[in-house]
Amino acid sequence: MQSLHFSYKTHTNKLHIPSLGLALMLLVCLASHTSSCTEQEKGSLLQFLAKLSQDGGLAASWRNGTNCCKWEGITCREDGTVTAVLLPSKGLHGHISQSLGNLTGLQYLDLSDNLLSGGLPVELVFSNSITTLDVSFNRLNSILDELPSSTPDRSMQVLNISSNLFVGQFPSTIWKAMGNLVALNASNNSFTGQIPAYFCETSPFFAVLDLCFNKFSGNIPQGLCDCSRLRELRAGNNNLSGTLPDELFNATLLEYLSFPNNDLHGALDDVLIINLRNIVTLDLGGNKFSGRIPDSIGQLKKLEEFHLDNNMMLGELPSALSNCTNLRTIDIKTNKFSGELTKVNFSNLPSLKTLDLLNNNFTGTVPESIYSCSNLTALRLEGNKLHGQLSPQISNLKSLSFLALGKNNFTNITNTLQILKSCRNITTLLIGDNFKGELMPEDDSNDGFENLQVLDIKDCQLSGEIPVWISRLTHLKMLLLNSNQLTGPIPTWISSLRYLFFMDVSNNNLIGEILLTFTEMPMLTDSKTHLDPRVFELPLYKGPSLQYRVVTSFPNTLNLSNNNFTGVIPPQIGQLEVLGVLDFSFNKLFGQIPQSFCNLTNLQVLDLSNNNLTGDIPAALNSLHFLSAFSISNNDLQGPIPSGGQFETFQNSSFDGNPKLCGSILSHKCVSVKAQEAIILSRKQTDYKVGFVIAFSAFFGVGVLYDQLVLSRYFS
Ligand SMILES: *[C@@H]1O[C@H](CO)[C@@H](O)[C@H](O)[C@H]1NC(C)=O
Ligand SMILES: *[C@@H]1O[C@H](CO)[C@@H](O)[C@H](O)[C@H]1NC(C)=O
Ligand SMILES: *[C@@H]1O[C@H](CO)[C@@H](O)[C@H](O)[C@H]1NC(C)=O
Ligand SMILES: *[C@@H]1O[C@H](CO)[C@@H](O)[C@H](O)[C@H]1NC(C)=O
Ligand SMILES: *[C@@H]1O[C@H](CO)[C@@H](O)[C@H](O)[C@H]1NC(C)=O
Ligand SMILES: *[C@@H]1O[C@H](CO)[C@@H](O)[C@H](O)[C@H]1NC(C)=O
Ligand SMILES: *[C@@H]1O[C@H](CO)[C@@H](O)[C@H](O)[C@H]1NC(C)=O
Ligand SMILES: *[C@@H]1O[C@H](CO)[C@@H](O)[C@H](O)[C@H]1NC(C)=O
Ligand SMILES: *[C@@H]1O[C@H](CO)[C@@H](O)[C@H](O)[C@H]1NC(C)=O
Ligand SMILES: *[C@@H]1O[C@H](CO)[C@@H](O)[C@H](O)[C@H]1NC(C)=O
Ligand SMILES: *[C@@H]1O[C@H](CO)[C@@H](O)[C@H](O)[C@H]1NC(C)=O
Ligand SMILES: *[C@@H]1O[C@H](CO)[C@@H](O)[C@H](O)[C@H]1NC(C)=O
Repeated sequence: MQSLHFSYKTHTNKLHIPSLGLALMLLVCLASHTSSCTEQEKGSLLQFLAKLSQDGGLAASWRNGTNCCKWEGITCREDGTVTAVLLPSKGLHGHISQSLGNLTGLQYLDLSDNLLSGGLPVELVFSNSITTLDVSFNRLNSILDELPSSTPDRSMQVLNISSNLFVGQFPSTIWKAMGNLVALNASNNSFTGQIPAYFCETSPFFAVLDLCFNKFSGNIPQGLCDCSRLRELRAGNNNLSGTLPDELFNATLLEYLSFPNNDLHGALDDVLIINLRNIVTLDLGGNKFSGRIPDSIGQLKKLEEFHLDNNMMLGELPSALSNCTNLRTIDIKTNKFSGELTKVNFSNLPSLKTLDLLNNNFTGTVPESIYSCSNLTALRLEGNKLHGQLSPQISNLKSLSFLALGKNNFTNITNTLQILKSCRNITTLLIGDNFKGELMPEDDSNDGFENLQVLDIKDCQLSGEIPVWISRLTHLKMLLLNSNQLTGPIPTWISSLRYLFFMDVSNNNLIGEILLTFTEMPMLTDSKTHLDPRVFELPLYKGPSLQYRVVTSFPNTLNLSNNNFTGVIPPQIGQLEVLGVLDFSFNKLFGQIPQSFCNLTNLQVLDLSNNNLTGDIPAALNSLHFLSAFSISNNDLQGPIPSGGQFETFQNSSFDGNPKLCGSILSHKCVSVKAQEAIILSRKQTDYKVGFVIAFSAFFGVGVLYDQLVLSRYFS
């Protein structure tokens, strides 16, 4: 469940290497009809081959005695000089030989996406001929050697060392010697220390720098920004602090400026920002920026991607934003923005696809102009103070698939659903925590929503019953109706929702017995399919950092807690083998915990607390290896608590309020180990119901694997 902690951004992190592909294609075309390569060059290549521990079948083509210009991955000029060695994704293991540095005509070297380890030979970085070197996606780890500072300018123009295991300080003397460098991608390594400042001092044509996903710290150096040609600057996901230096705004050609998830602060300067007139992507999310969005933002006419999420920005959205007519993404979630949205004329933003205003302080109504953004795919207004009703014009938003209105003060849920059903492409509808105290619409004509996969109407205090129209949402995968005041039973048609794997109806006034029809729900008994990627167009958040982007991050869930369910728990519930969370707590269930629960081998959470259950706890529950949260407190259970497995990890609060239970961690000890074994044996043979209390000598420890996090999430 917690696998997705890093922040996701919709834009890619690819380094745009200028026209490399084209150059290579030309080279390959020229490659035919070449004369043979020299023995010396062949020797250098064979030395490279010799250093590989796995050559991915290269040796079949790289044979001594044949023309090396015909070898796999080799390109030569007409005179037989090797100009390119292109061996991406060949499954190469081993070290990179420095012998490639002896190929005096080599211009392009691509060893990306292999399993090469060790160091990157300095002879390659400082070759007099190589202009493009790509060793990305390998396991190179040694810091590049330093060179004497007298080294003359080298030929290197494009260097991609991203996604390796490099550590340590950035090797300054190396870059200082590269007077022709245009693009450097060192992202996704573990470089530490300060970002060097001198790229542009030494390389007048320097245009692209990608340092994201490293461990750089300190300020953004001023010198870095004296780059008149700089077009892309990315250093997200480091530990950078301080402010954006004024000089940054001298780089007027910048198209891509991205520093998300650092520790930067300061305000966006109204005057300086105008200089970024070529900016296409501005990503400053996940920092501590404060102040307002300056009016001059409107002069950034080329702006398409605008990310200021998770900062401390405040004030209104300036009307000038309407002048950024190419905007595709506005992500300003989790700030302190306030005021009405009506100031911005969204009809000027026809390309807008994503508008994410989650967790701010916006007031007023949804501005009508939003309804003209016909390409809008994801709209999240959740967690603000908006009120009123949606306009029927929302049906203009034909592409809308993700709509989150939750935690506002919208009214008239009947009207809202009537209107929204015309948005045929909606897959995810999150409207909970609105419509306080209204009636759950029962309108049979709610027949739209044919693509709906996730429906969240929780926390609305709606009265009424679970409505029949939900039975027609045949693609529904997640249904959240918790914390309303719904009455009546769970309808038996629920089992016709064959994709439903997550159902939370907790905190209502539902009655009746636990349905046997649950066992007919394929998604609770068989493995689940993945949700359509459109479903989480925007990641969902649960708590400050936990986010759900894919449906597989959600456990299969059946949560019926805090209702008025009664009767015995049917043993057939043990057939819901893929369940991750089963919560029947705070009901009026009686009888025994079915032995079949030991078949729920994927359970992470089992809460049966606060019912009226009797009998023993099935000893075989100790075979539920993923169980990290367990409670049967406040029932009337008896006998020993099971030993072994995850039961070594639960604290006695899991068992509170069952005076007839005994166990080493309880004040009530069972009689003796022998008596205990005798009981277990006799129970195995005769299913003998233990009607008396056994004390139990302390022979197992407690709390080894106790997963406090999960436990507190479900039981706090
Ligand atoms: C390749 O062949 C040449 C000439 O036959 C020989 O001198 C050289 O040692 C061979 N190289 C390797 C690596 O076998
Ligand atoms: C490179 O060439 C030089 C001579 O040109 C030679 O001394 C050296 O051994 C060669 N190195 C490799 C690694 O092939
Ligand atoms: C760069 O910016 C600084 C401060 O904004 C300014 O003083 C300086 O003149 C600028 N340099 C150039 C070359 O534009
Ligand atoms: C938008 O731009 C126009 C001209 O480009 C300008 O007249 C107008 O004041 C700008 N609007 C805002 C709100 O900045
Ligand atoms: C929202 O505004 C209210 C006052 O209207 C203020 O008390 C509250 O702190 C603000 N919330 C945020 C997140 O800024
Ligand atoms: C809307 O999206 C379509 C398809 O992606 C695209 O062709 C069109 O240009 C977009 N419209 C605008 C105004 O961006
Ligand atoms: C609606 O969704 C379907 C796929 O379910 C897609 O083919 C279609 O392009 C979408 N319509 C719009 C207007 O985006
Ligand atoms: C929500 O709106 C209703 C009426 O529109 C109003 O009475 C109520 O005070 C509002 N609640 C909040 C928390 O703003
Ligand atoms: C809710 O909307 C419906 C139209 O869908 C309207 O008939 C009804 O009067 C509205 N209720 C309120 C309280 O505004
Ligand atoms: C449960 O039902 C009883 C009547 O059967 C009712 O008195 C009680 O309030 C209900 N409790 C809840 C939590 O709905
Ligand atoms: C567990 O499942 C198996 C196979 O479905 C079944 O044979 C067995 O009876 C079940 N165990 C219990 C205790 O229900
Ligand atoms: C539990 O059952 C006992 C007797 O079976 C009954 O007296 C008691 O009221 C029940 N408690 C609840 C909370 O239903």
